[in-house]
Amino acid sequence: MSKSQATRITWLGHATVLIQTVQGTNILIDPFIAHNPKYPKDFELPEKIDFVLLTHGHGDHIGDAAPVAKKHGATVVAIYELADYIAGQGVTQTMGMNLGGTVTLDDVTVTMVDAKHSAAASDEKGTHYVGVAVGFVLAVAGGPVLYHSGDTCVFGDMALIREIYQPRVVMLPIGGYYTMGPQEAAVACRLLEPETVLPIHWGTFPALTGTPAELAALVGPEVKVVHWKPGDEISV
Ligand code: NI
Ligand code: MN
Repeated sequence: MSKSQATRITWLGHATVLIQTVQGTNILIDPFIAHNPKYPKDFELPEKIDFVLLTHGHGDHIGDAAPVAKKHGATVVAIYELADYIAGQGVTQTMGMNLGGTVTLDDVTVTMVDAKHSAAASDEKGTHYVGVAVGFVLAVAGGPVLYHSGDTCVFGDMALIREIYQPRVVMLPIGGYYTMGPQEAAVACRLLEPETVLPIHWGTFPALTGTPAELAALVGPEVKVVHWKPGDEISV
């Protein structure tokens, strides 16, 4: 597919992903920038970010949500309680949805789906309940269906995500320790039947030992595992 017709996905290290549609919608998922040891040096975010999507309240997923939303004029989309928490940090535009719900974000239809992970947010005032962990399915008009699972173990209802949405490109954590590793991600691939896997949440910290090569060795040839590095942009 030529670049001008493709949806572009840029990995910014850890679970941080920038999605840019042909129609010019820019979506940033789980912005973790200032304290992300793998954030690509000198990478400039686009001036306009339309939406920031958050999968759960841990610092390595929401660390830069409020500053990015304020600087780039983004609307923050998250589960209700987390959206409320981010609004409390002075973000004026938030959408607090919940599991199973779908919102239309310009040319992208976004559905909030299940994930299995803890989700509290911690700050100087303590630990806060900010809903549960979620994933997102993003159906780009005239483009691919994408799935960003957030932090999760593998779970059998990924088969429902395949049945209902049929994502072609899936972003799955493979680092292990806090999420599934390659062995579990290979089962996730069996349940999801994607064409392409973009591995995330690996290599950031020493504890996250899973690698794309390990996953690639466990899935069949019909699944393409992209061995990308932070800063790489993939056209899908
Ligand atoms: Ni987490
Ligand atoms: Mn995490």
